Amino acid sequence: MKDIAASVGTPCYIYSARSIRSAYAAIDAAFAGYPHRIHYALKANSTLAIVRLIRSLGSCADANSGGEVKVAERAGFAPADIVFTGVGKTRDELEYAIARGVGTINAESAGELDRIAAIAHAQGRVAAAALRINPDIDAGSHPNISTGLRSNKFGVPLEDARAIYRERRGLPGLRFAGVHVHIGSQITTEDPIRRAASTLVALALELRDDGFELEHVDLGGGLGIAYEGRPMITPVEYAAAALPELRRLGIPVVLEPGRAIVGHAGALVARIVDTKEFPGGRRFAVLDAGMGELMRPALYGSYHRVVPLAPRPGPERPWDVVGPICESSDVFARDRPLPPLEVEDLVALLDTGAYGSVMASNYLRHQLAPEVLIDDGRWTVVRRRQTMDDVLALET
Ligand SMILES: Cc1ncc(COP(=O)(O)O)c(C=O)c1O
Repeated sequence: MKDIAASVGTPCYIYSARSIRSAYAAIDAAFAGYPHRIHYALKANSTLAIVRLIRSLGSCADANSGGEVKVAERAGFAPADIVFTGVGKTRDELEYAIARGVGTINAESAGELDRIAAIAHAQGRVAAAALRINPDIDAGSHPNISTGLRSNKFGVPLEDARAIYRERRGLPGLRFAGVHVHIGSQITTEDPIRRAASTLVALALELRDDGFELEHVDLGGGLGIAYEGRPMITPVEYAAAALPELRRLGIPVVLEPGRAIVGHAGALVARIVDTKEFPGGRRFAVLDAGMGELMRPALYGSYHRVVPLAPRPGPERPWDVVGPICESSDVFARDRPLPPLEVEDLVALLDTGAYGSVMASNYLRHQLAPEVLIDDGRWTVVRRRQTMDDVLALET
């Protein structure tokens, strides 16, 4: 990592292809005994080279916006291998997705189903759709990334779903391909997954009784990863929670993992640009990366391990590792025991492959950090550092 940082500069994101391959394989193997399709959720990391790599493993794609549909296509996915999810799809996005023949559109409301049907009918097509249900299940993750509760904006209330399907049976332009649920991200226990699968299957069985010939159920994403290095639900345990429910139904399951495929594979490498100590002993290390490069800690107080790349000898003491932005939430770690730190030292923020670079911004006119992919002992810059000319290119 030191050599890469010396060559491309800091801050930079560095990804391991091997880690992505093994994480993908673990999920695929966990569901091996049941017909399944993995649709990698591009929202976790949509850098083209990463998406292409995951496609090469046999994955399909889950796009959460029109932009992500286009990235998936650029990465080589056939439209039929893309599911299009998203809580507020615009007319333009729907028209594009339908015209391209996207595999399934996961609709978020009865009104959206009607818009999908109308647009497809006007295009002389039949769009495949699945309705996203809101099962009122607590995913047990951070409130900002829990999406399956009644108080959240996602999907339709479970008790309304059957009627919505029935009322739209035979609507020109619409074909019901499945049912969709996604109760949240960074799920760390089995129970919410079991309950989500059970609810999904129960509804699908009712719809089967009603004569709908569903092709799949979509369990969403959400499998968590161990940010603090503690034991965590494994893909096998995740599958073990879902599969007994799915077997009652017998049709293929679509999975939309994002974080679990790319999260561990990435590190954000940054340089210490200042250190200071306040009376009372609070010690700060200020990095050249902040919430503009990695927003998760400021957004959800998330934990990332901080590792000096060349640890100095000396006792560990508590450090606040912070970004350079004038916002009090621009903090990566508080009171973190670390060895002595000095200006110019490099540190890596671990497990930043998911929801890292995708959420980066130009706040303070920072230029987006470069991204490097290590594969088979070689490394390649897969996204160069943005220049000031790039940043200003859209402005008069
Ligand atoms: C609809 C949908 N599917 C899949 C995902 C991927 O979730 P995760 O990265 O937790 O697997 C998300 C992210 O929250 C999502 O909103």
